[in-house]
Amino acid sequence: MTDLNVNGTVHRVEAEPDKPLLWVLREDLGLTGSKFGCGVGQCLACTVHLDGEPAAACLTPLAAVAGRRVTTIEGLPAAASHPVQRAWVEMNVVQCGYCQSGQILAAVALLAANREPADADIDRAMRGNLCRCGTYQRIRGAVRRAAALARGEV
Ligand code: FES
Ligand code: FES
Repeated sequence: MTDLNVNGTVHRVEAEPDKPLLWVLREDLGLTGSKFGCGVGQCLACTVHLDGEPAAACLTPLAAVAGRRVTTIEGLPAAASHPVQRAWVEMNVVQCGYCQSGQILAAVALLAANREPADADIDRAMRGNLCRCGTYQRIRGAVRRAAALARGEV
């Protein structure tokens, strides 16, 4: 039994301690926004935040997250009011959508750490998040736009 804090709610999870967090989220908690891409840390479709830092949920065993704060895409405002969500909608970033919850969480973490990221900062922060649809240009633009929205520029 593991107490797991996800999106501000503590869940008591009955799962093996070595079960990957991705499957705990999807199977045990029904939070399917975090996607399975490769399962080996190569695509970051499964990105969540652990204590505010992006992490690959497919590589993170349940035992490693006890006592830590997990945030998934479901933890962002349902009204899509976060600057990253607003920018993503405004710039019509999404194509098939499969990689996008991971992309968005990577962008949220970047902007929390850096209010004014240069293009090189964006590229560095997002480089592990693969998109088979090739939405990279729109993602870069949307991160820049989200940063401006977060700074109160309209
Ligand atoms: S599914 Fe986790 S990195 Fe690809
Ligand atoms: S939008 Fe399709 S994989 Fe990224």
